[in-house]
Amino acid sequence: MSAAAGPVTTSAAAVRNADAPVQPNGQAGPPSRPDDVVAAPAAVTPQELRAAFGRFATGVTIVACRPPAGSPVGLTVNSFGSLSLDPPLVLWSLRSSSPALPAFRAAPTFAINVLAESQVGLSRRFASKLPDKFAEGLWSAGAGGAPLLAGCAASFECERLSDQEAGDHVLFIGRVIGVADAPVPPLVFQAGHYRLLGDIL
Ligand SMILES: Cc1cc2nc3c(=O)[nH]c(=O)nc-3n(C[C@H](O)[C@H](O)[C@H](O)COP(=O)(O)O)c2cc1C
Repeated sequence: MSAAAGPVTTSAAAVRNADAPVQPNGQAGPPSRPDDVVAAPAAVTPQELRAAFGRFATGVTIVACRPPAGSPVGLTVNSFGSLSLDPPLVLWSLRSSSPALPAFRAAPTFAINVLAESQVGLSRRFASKLPDKFAEGLWSAGAGGAPLLAGCAASFECERLSDQEAGDHVLFIGRVIGVADAPVPPLVFQAGHYRLLGDIL
């Protein structure tokens, strides 16, 4: 999910709503199943949510797959998260309206390529609508066929375990079948801007 700069709302209504999610029946309490995820209460606008989400600093990845008998597909993603060590699981989410969705649902594997700060150009490229995104960068196929990018801070090749609708996104969970990392500075994204990693505190 991309983030943008903007004011943070601190109204009492927003805080109350954040503490007690409202269910479809109007009662407060946590959702019981993933598909019970409810629309944002009217007191919280998408703009306010986007601004608040964007305060969370993330790394930047290119998530890529090669569907059967198809060309590689990939996009810039910062919704990546580590989920489990045993078994080794990761997650990320894709906008439901993305033209890339059929490819990620068809491909048995995908790769999470964690970008180095030197790869900001590739991040911009894979966040665009360019038809030939893979014409730049050094790409190779992983053991499971997913596109791996050279020069990354880390890469995870994964078998797709599930793809589940959640609001306006589809949540992908993958089981890691290959991993690599390198001690290069990672690219950072926060409040709508690419940034360099700061000092160790
Ligand atoms: C830093 C950053 C992070 C992004 N994270 C996501 C994400 O997690 N999920 C998503 O669906 N789109 C995300 N996007 C937007 C996609 O990269 C963008 O919509 C891309 O053009 C999609 O390609 P498509 O036209 O092939 O769908 C992000 C964009 C940026 C710049």
